[in-house]
Amino acid sequence: MVPPTAIVTGGSSGIGDALVHHLVSMQWRVVIADINPPREVIPDTLFIRTDIASWQDQADMFKQAYAWSRRLDFVALNAGVDDRDDIFGTLSNDVNEPPQRPDTKPFDVNITGTYYGIKLSAHYMTVPSTEAGKRNAGGKIVITASGGGIYPIPILPQYVASKHALVGLVRALGRNQATSKANVRINAVCPAIVDTPALPPGLVSKLPPDQITPMSTVIRCFDALADLTDVGDEDWVLRGRTGETLEGNGDELIWHRPPERRGGKFVRETGMLAVAQAYKEKAERAAV
Ligand SMILES: NC(=O)c1ccc[n+]([C@@H]2O[C@H](COP(=O)([O-])OP(=O)(O)OC[C@H]3O[C@@H](n4cnc5c(N)ncnc54)[C@H](O)[C@@H]3O)[C@@H](O)[C@H]2O)c1
Repeated sequence: MVPPTAIVTGGSSGIGDALVHHLVSMQWRVVIADINPPREVIPDTLFIRTDIASWQDQADMFKQAYAWSRRLDFVALNAGVDDRDDIFGTLSNDVNEPPQRPDTKPFDVNITGTYYGIKLSAHYMTVPSTEAGKRNAGGKIVITASGGGIYPIPILPQYVASKHALVGLVRALGRNQATSKANVRINAVCPAIVDTPALPPGLVSKLPPDQITPMSTVIRCFDALADLTDVGDEDWVLRGRTGETLEGNGDELIWHRPPERRGGKFVRETGMLAVAQAYKEKAERAAV
Protein backbone atom coordinates (compact mmCIF):
# COMPACT_ATOMS: atom_id res chain seq x y z
CA MET A 1 0.00 0.00 0.00
CA VAL A 2 1.27 3.47 -0.96
CA PRO A 3 0.93 6.19 1.71
CA PRO A 4 -1.51 9.06 1.07
CA THR A 5 -0.05 11.43 -1.48
CA ALA A 6 -0.24 15.20 -1.83
CA ILE A 7 0.84 17.87 -4.28
CA VAL A 8 1.82 21.30 -2.92
CA THR A 9 2.27 24.07 -5.50
CA GLY A 10 4.68 26.77 -4.39
CA GLY A 11 6.04 24.14 -1.98
CA SER A 12 9.67 25.32 -2.08
CA SER A 13 9.28 28.37 0.17
CA GLY A 14 7.21 30.02 2.90
CA ILE A 15 3.75 28.60 3.58
CA GLY A 16 4.10 25.82 1.00
CA ASP A 17 7.42 24.67 2.48
CA ALA A 18 5.93 24.61 6.01
CA LEU A 19 2.97 22.57 4.74
CA VAL A 20 5.29 20.09 2.99
CA HIS A 21 7.19 19.53 6.27
CA HIS A 22 3.89 19.16 8.16
CA LEU A 23 2.59 16.54 5.70
CA VAL A 24 5.86 14.59 5.68
CA SER A 25 5.88 14.56 9.50
CA MET A 26 2.52 12.75 9.26
CA GLN A 27 3.87 10.14 6.78
CA TRP A 28 2.45 11.68 3.60
CA ARG A 29 4.33 11.46 0.30
CA VAL A 30 4.50 14.93 -1.21
CA VAL A 31 5.16 16.32 -4.66
CA ILE A 32 6.60 19.83 -4.53
CA ALA A 33 5.57 21.73 -7.68
CA ASP A 34 7.40 25.03 -7.94
CA ILE A 35 9.37 27.18 -10.39
CA ASN A 36 12.27 27.01 -7.89
CA PRO A 37 13.72 23.94 -6.13
CA PRO A 38 13.39 23.52 -2.35
CA ARG A 39 16.40 24.65 -0.26
CA GLU A 40 16.98 21.13 1.06
CA VAL A 41 16.18 17.57 0.06
CA ILE A 42 13.20 16.39 2.12
CA PRO A 43 12.62 12.60 2.43
CA ASP A 44 9.42 11.26 0.86
CA THR A 45 9.11 14.22 -1.47
CA LEU A 46 9.56 14.63 -5.21
CA PHE A 47 10.36 18.04 -6.66
CA ILE A 48 8.92 18.72 -10.11
CA ARG A 49 9.81 22.06 -11.65
CA THR A 50 6.46 23.58 -12.68
CA ASP A 51 5.13 26.96 -13.72
CA ILE A 52 1.49 26.70 -12.69
CA ALA A 53 0.51 29.40 -15.21
CA SER A 54 1.40 26.93 -17.98
CA TRP A 55 -1.23 24.25 -18.69
CA GLN A 56 1.39 21.98 -20.25
CA ASP A 57 3.71 22.31 -17.24
CA GLN A 58 0.93 21.50 -14.79
CA ALA A 59 -0.49 18.66 -16.88
CA ASP A 60 2.99 17.08 -17.13
CA MET A 61 3.57 17.57 -13.40
CA PHE A 62 0.29 15.89 -12.39
CA LYS A 63 1.01 13.00 -14.76
CA GLN A 64 4.48 12.51 -13.28
CA ALA A 65 3.15 12.88 -9.71
CA TYR A 66 0.51 10.20 -10.32
CA ALA A 67 3.07 7.88 -11.93
CA TRP A 68 5.24 8.29 -8.79
CA SER A 69 2.53 7.30 -6.30
CA ARG A 70 -0.43 5.95 -8.32
CA ARG A 71 -2.77 7.85 -5.99
CA LEU A 72 -3.63 11.46 -5.19
CA ASP A 73 -5.44 12.37 -1.99
CA PHE A 74 -4.76 16.04 -1.28
CA VAL A 75 -3.68 19.06 -3.31
CA ALA A 76 -2.68 22.44 -1.89
CA LEU A 77 -2.95 25.00 -4.69
CA ASN A 78 -0.76 27.45 -2.87
CA ALA A 79 1.59 29.17 -5.38
CA GLY A 80 0.80 32.83 -5.87
CA VAL A 81 2.36 36.19 -6.71
CA ASP A 82 1.54 39.83 -5.95
CA ASP A 83 1.04 42.96 -8.06
CA ARG A 84 3.03 43.63 -11.25
CA ASP A 85 1.34 46.85 -12.40
CA ASP A 86 0.46 50.33 -11.15
CA ILE A 87 -2.53 51.64 -13.10
CA PHE A 88 -2.64 55.23 -11.84
CA GLY A 89 1.07 55.62 -11.09
CA THR A 90 1.93 55.21 -14.79
CA LEU A 91 -0.37 57.85 -16.32
CA SER A 92 1.51 59.95 -18.90
CA ASN A 93 -1.00 62.82 -19.38
CA ASP A 94 0.02 62.66 -23.06
CA VAL A 95 -2.67 61.64 -25.54
CA ASN A 96 0.05 60.25 -27.83
CA GLU A 97 1.41 58.01 -25.13
CA PRO A 98 -1.35 55.53 -24.33
CA PRO A 99 -0.52 52.83 -21.78
CA GLN A 100 1.47 49.72 -22.67
CA ARG A 101 -0.16 46.35 -22.15
CA PRO A 102 0.01 45.80 -18.36
CA ASP A 103 1.66 42.81 -16.69
CA THR A 104 -1.24 40.67 -15.45
CA LYS A 105 0.83 37.86 -13.98
CA PRO A 106 -1.18 37.72 -10.72
CA PHE A 107 -4.27 36.80 -12.76
CA ASP A 108 -2.35 34.27 -14.88
CA VAL A 109 -0.73 32.56 -11.89
CA ASN A 110 -3.23 33.04 -9.06
CA ILE A 111 -6.48 32.54 -10.99
CA THR A 112 -5.74 30.68 -14.24
CA GLY A 113 -2.92 28.58 -12.76
CA THR A 114 -5.06 27.63 -9.77
CA TYR A 115 -8.01 26.81 -12.01
CA TYR A 116 -5.78 24.49 -14.07
CA GLY A 117 -4.77 22.86 -10.79
CA ILE A 118 -8.37 22.22 -9.75
CA LYS A 119 -9.16 20.64 -13.11
CA LEU A 120 -6.12 18.34 -13.00
CA SER A 121 -6.63 17.49 -9.31
CA ALA A 122 -10.21 16.42 -9.98
CA HIS A 123 -9.03 14.06 -12.74
CA TYR A 124 -6.21 12.37 -10.82
CA MET A 125 -8.16 12.22 -7.56
CA THR A 126 -11.01 10.36 -9.17
CA VAL A 127 -9.17 7.81 -11.34
CA PRO A 128 -9.14 4.31 -9.76
CA SER A 129 -6.27 3.96 -7.26
CA THR A 130 -7.35 0.90 -5.32
CA GLU A 131 -4.13 -0.95 -6.24
CA ALA A 132 -2.20 1.76 -4.39
CA GLY A 133 -4.42 1.26 -1.34
CA LYS A 134 -6.81 4.15 -1.82
CA ARG A 135 -10.24 2.83 -0.98
CA ASN A 136 -12.52 5.55 -2.37
CA ALA A 137 -12.16 7.79 -5.40
CA GLY A 138 -12.04 11.49 -4.57
CA GLY A 139 -9.87 13.87 -2.62
CA LYS A 140 -9.46 17.26 -1.02
CA ILE A 141 -8.18 20.56 -2.37
CA VAL A 142 -7.18 23.58 -0.29
CA ILE A 143 -6.50 26.82 -2.14
CA THR A 144 -4.30 29.47 -0.56
CA ALA A 145 -6.29 32.66 -1.01
CA SER A 146 -5.45 35.47 1.45
CA GLY A 147 -6.84 38.03 3.86
CA GLY A 148 -6.79 39.99 0.58
CA GLY A 149 -9.45 37.55 -0.66
CA ILE A 150 -11.84 38.89 1.96
CA TYR A 151 -10.73 42.48 2.65
CA PRO A 152 -9.36 45.11 0.25
CA ILE A 153 -5.62 45.92 0.38
CA PRO A 154 -5.58 49.18 -1.64
CA ILE A 155 -1.89 48.95 -2.62
CA LEU A 156 -2.40 45.47 -4.19
CA PRO A 157 -5.46 45.63 -6.49
CA GLN A 158 -4.39 42.79 -8.81
CA TYR A 159 -3.60 40.55 -5.85
CA VAL A 160 -6.87 41.41 -4.10
CA ALA A 161 -8.92 40.80 -7.26
CA SER A 162 -7.22 37.45 -7.86
CA LYS A 163 -7.65 36.29 -4.26
CA HIS A 164 -11.33 37.37 -4.18
CA ALA A 165 -11.69 35.29 -7.37
CA LEU A 166 -10.30 32.25 -5.55
CA VAL A 167 -12.76 32.66 -2.68
CA GLY A 168 -15.54 32.90 -5.29
CA LEU A 169 -14.30 29.75 -7.02
CA VAL A 170 -14.29 27.83 -3.76
CA ARG A 171 -17.75 29.07 -2.79
CA ALA A 172 -19.22 28.07 -6.15
CA LEU A 173 -17.34 24.80 -6.72
CA GLY A 174 -17.46 23.62 -3.12
CA ARG A 175 -21.23 23.45 -3.26
CA ASN A 176 -21.54 22.37 -6.88
CA GLN A 177 -23.39 19.05 -7.32
CA ALA A 178 -20.84 17.69 -9.81
CA THR A 179 -17.97 18.35 -7.36
CA SER A 180 -19.84 16.55 -4.65
CA LYS A 181 -20.72 13.63 -6.97
CA ALA A 182 -17.01 13.27 -7.80
CA ASN A 183 -16.32 13.14 -4.04
CA VAL A 184 -14.01 16.16 -4.19
CA ARG A 185 -13.90 18.74 -1.38
CA ILE A 186 -12.54 22.23 -1.95
CA ASN A 187 -11.85 24.98 0.58
CA ALA A 188 -9.83 28.20 0.91
CA VAL A 189 -7.34 29.31 3.55
CA CYS A 190 -6.92 33.08 3.97
CA PRO A 191 -3.74 33.88 5.90
CA ALA A 192 -3.19 37.38 7.26
CA ILE A 193 0.44 38.59 7.14
CA VAL A 194 2.90 35.72 7.53
CA ASP A 195 6.69 36.26 7.59
CA THR A 196 7.82 34.64 4.32
CA PRO A 197 10.15 35.65 1.46
CA ALA A 198 7.05 36.96 -0.39
CA LEU A 199 6.82 40.04 1.84
CA PRO A 200 8.58 43.23 0.78
CA PRO A 201 11.88 43.70 2.65
CA GLY A 202 11.47 45.66 5.88
CA LEU A 203 7.73 45.08 6.26
CA VAL A 204 8.02 42.72 9.21
CA SER A 205 10.12 45.19 11.25
CA LYS A 206 7.57 47.95 10.55
CA LEU A 207 4.64 45.94 11.94
CA PRO A 208 3.71 45.43 15.58
CA PRO A 209 4.59 41.76 16.37
CA ASP A 210 0.95 40.91 17.15
CA GLN A 211 0.07 41.77 13.53
CA ILE A 212 2.22 38.97 12.20
CA THR A 213 0.48 35.63 11.94
CA PRO A 214 2.56 32.63 13.05
CA MET A 215 3.06 29.88 10.48
CA SER A 216 1.57 27.46 13.03
CA THR A 217 -1.80 29.25 12.65
CA VAL A 218 -1.76 28.73 8.88
CA ILE A 219 -0.97 25.03 9.36
CA ARG A 220 -3.85 24.79 11.85
CA CYS A 221 -6.09 26.23 9.11
CA PHE A 222 -5.00 23.53 6.63
CA ASP A 223 -5.72 20.87 9.27
CA ALA A 224 -9.12 22.39 10.10
CA LEU A 225 -10.11 22.61 6.43
CA ALA A 226 -8.82 19.24 5.23
CA ASP A 227 -8.39 17.12 8.38
CA LEU A 228 -4.93 16.09 7.20
CA THR A 229 -4.25 13.95 10.26
CA ASP A 230 -7.05 11.45 9.70
CA VAL A 231 -6.67 10.34 6.10
CA GLY A 232 -6.70 6.58 6.77
CA ASP A 233 -10.41 6.69 7.52
CA GLU A 234 -12.61 5.36 4.71
CA ASP A 235 -14.98 8.33 4.95
CA TRP A 236 -12.17 10.90 5.09
CA VAL A 237 -13.33 12.74 1.97
CA LEU A 238 -17.04 12.02 2.28
CA ARG A 239 -17.37 13.75 5.64
CA GLY A 240 -14.94 16.55 4.71
CA ARG A 241 -15.82 20.23 4.72
CA THR A 242 -16.42 21.95 1.39
CA GLY A 243 -16.91 25.48 0.07
CA GLU A 244 -15.48 26.98 3.27
CA THR A 245 -13.24 30.02 3.69
CA LEU A 246 -11.04 30.15 6.78
CA GLU A 247 -8.96 33.15 7.80
CA GLY A 248 -5.85 32.57 9.91
CA ASN A 249 -5.05 35.79 11.74
CA GLY A 250 -2.73 35.94 14.75
CA ASP A 251 -3.76 32.96 16.86
CA GLU A 252 -7.33 33.04 15.60
CA LEU A 253 -9.11 30.84 13.06
CA ILE A 254 -12.03 32.86 11.66
CA TRP A 255 -14.65 31.24 9.40
CA HIS A 256 -16.17 33.46 6.68
CA ARG A 257 -19.59 32.70 5.27
CA PRO A 258 -20.80 34.35 2.03
CA PRO A 259 -22.55 37.67 2.78
CA GLU A 260 -26.10 37.33 4.02
CA ARG A 261 -28.82 38.14 1.53
CA ARG A 262 -30.35 41.45 2.53
CA GLY A 263 -33.10 41.62 -0.11
CA GLY A 264 -33.72 40.81 -3.73
CA LYS A 265 -35.11 37.58 -5.06
CA PHE A 266 -32.68 36.34 -7.72
CA VAL A 267 -30.18 34.30 -5.71
CA ARG A 268 -32.62 32.46 -3.49
CA GLU A 269 -32.60 28.65 -3.54
CA THR A 270 -35.49 28.22 -6.01
CA GLY A 271 -33.86 30.71 -8.38
CA MET A 272 -30.57 28.81 -8.14
CA LEU A 273 -32.30 25.54 -9.07
CA ALA A 274 -33.81 27.19 -12.17
CA VAL A 275 -30.42 28.66 -13.12
CA ALA A 276 -28.73 25.24 -12.72
CA GLN A 277 -31.42 23.52 -14.81
CA ALA A 278 -31.23 26.11 -17.60
CA TYR A 279 -27.41 25.85 -17.84
CA LYS A 280 -27.62 22.04 -17.86
CA GLU A 281 -30.12 22.13 -20.73
CA LYS A 282 -27.93 24.65 -22.61
CA ALA A 283 -24.91 22.31 -22.26
CA GLU A 284 -27.00 19.31 -23.41
CA ARG A 285 -28.20 21.23 -26.49
CA ALA A 286 -24.61 22.29 -27.32
CA ALA A 287 -23.46 18.67 -27.08
CA VAL A 288 -25.99 17.43 -29.71
N1 LIG B 1 3.06 35.61 3.26
C1 LIG B 1 1.89 36.17 3.46
O1 LIG B 1 1.75 37.11 4.25
C2 LIG B 1 0.68 35.66 2.74
C3 LIG B 1 -0.57 36.07 3.20
C4 LIG B 1 -1.71 35.60 2.54
C5 LIG B 1 -1.60 34.75 1.48
N2 LIG B 1 -0.36 34.37 1.06
C6 LIG B 1 -0.32 33.46 -0.09
O2 LIG B 1 0.36 32.30 0.29
C7 LIG B 1 0.89 31.65 -0.86
C8 LIG B 1 2.34 31.32 -0.58
O3 LIG B 1 3.05 32.53 -0.38
P1 LIG B 1 4.32 32.65 0.58
O4 LIG B 1 4.07 33.83 1.44
O5 LIG B 1 4.63 31.35 1.17
O6 LIG B 1 5.38 33.13 -0.52
P2 LIG B 1 6.80 32.55 -0.95
O7 LIG B 1 7.31 33.53 -1.94
O8 LIG B 1 7.63 32.23 0.26
O9 LIG B 1 6.43 31.18 -1.67
C9 LIG B 1 5.78 31.16 -2.90
C10 LIG B 1 6.34 30.01 -3.72
O10 LIG B 1 5.58 29.97 -4.93
C11 LIG B 1 6.48 29.75 -6.00
N3 LIG B 1 5.87 30.25 -7.24
C12 LIG B 1 5.68 31.53 -7.63
N4 LIG B 1 5.13 31.57 -8.85
C13 LIG B 1 4.97 30.29 -9.24
C14 LIG B 1 4.47 29.68 -10.41
N5 LIG B 1 4.04 30.41 -11.47
N6 LIG B 1 4.44 28.34 -10.49
C15 LIG B 1 4.90 27.59 -9.45
N7 LIG B 1 5.41 28.11 -8.33
C16 LIG B 1 5.45 29.44 -8.22
C17 LIG B 1 7.74 30.50 -5.61
O11 LIG B 1 8.89 30.01 -6.30
C18 LIG B 1 7.80 30.22 -4.12
O12 LIG B 1 8.54 29.04 -3.83
C19 LIG B 1 0.69 32.65 -2.01
O13 LIG B 1 -0.44 32.26 -2.76
C20 LIG B 1 0.44 33.96 -1.31
O14 LIG B 1 -0.33 34.84 -2.07
C21 LIG B 1 0.79 34.80 1.67
